[in-house]
Amino acid sequence: MPLFTKNRADAPKVDERFRHIAFIMDGNGRWAKKRGMPREYGHKAGAETFRRICSHCHDVGFKAVTVYAFSTENWKRPKPEVDAIMGLLDSFLDELMRDYEKYDNRIRFIGDTSVLTPELKEKIANAEMLNPQADTTINIAINYGGRAELVRAFQNLAAEGRTSVTEEDISGALYTRESGDPDMIVRTGGDLRISNFLLWQAAYAELYFTDKLWPDLTPADVDDMIRDFYSRKRRYGGL
Ligand code: IPE
Ligand code: IPE
Ligand code: MG
Repeated sequence: MPLFTKNRADAPKVDERFRHIAFIMDGNGRWAKKRGMPREYGHKAGAETFRRICSHCHDVGFKAVTVYAFSTENWKRPKPEVDAIMGLLDSFLDELMRDYEKYDNRIRFIGDTSVLTPELKEKIANAEMLNPQADTTINIAINYGGRAELVRAFQNLAAEGRTSVTEEDISGALYTRESGDPDMIVRTGGDLRISNFLLWQAAYAELYFTDKLWPDLTPADVDDMIRDFYSRKRRYGGL
């Protein structure tokens, strides 16, 4: 299935008020367990949901989609599970390169990818070169932590010799500098926490929590999120 397919006529559309949606894709393990299957099976299903949801997000007009795929803390998991997740990333990258003419979005990897295997790093570099002129971006967070991202940003600013910094300087030193802050952060899987995701960028994000496990999330659920977003009033501290 192409990552982005166009022209789903019945979907609600988003406008400049809702440009960027972010997902904490949680619940793959529980989804598999409910089916008596190993956790890796849930990650495979989750990877398919990722493609479906990204495709729908493109159809409805989002300019940026950011997904949390692997955190700096997820290395604590058993090696077979980590290997399975990296294997899914590898397959996704192969698919991207194979079918690249079907995609009209930019792919960005956010997080410290320097620790990944040389093969994965090369595939990531190739994927990031696709569609430089695209006006939609998918940010995939791999070995990402919000705190690590801030430390890196401050270190980079310090290395430039900066002795004072502004909020804009910090935003500009983050992985997300191209797509900016998310308008909404969604977490599936029922837990009510951020788990070290986009700490700086979340300042005024609308938060949306659903008990649905990530592999069960559907385009219709995204439509519900869109309707919910437009029913909210963003005050940014004003009246
Ligand atoms: C989210 O699903 C995916 C990753 C963290 C890689 P989980 O694997 O955390 O699934 P649960 O939360 O254990 O069900
Ligand atoms: C958050 O899920 C990270 C990702 C979805 C990649 P976790 O399952 O790792 O979060 P915790 O452990 O419940 O906080
Ligand atoms: Mg989890």
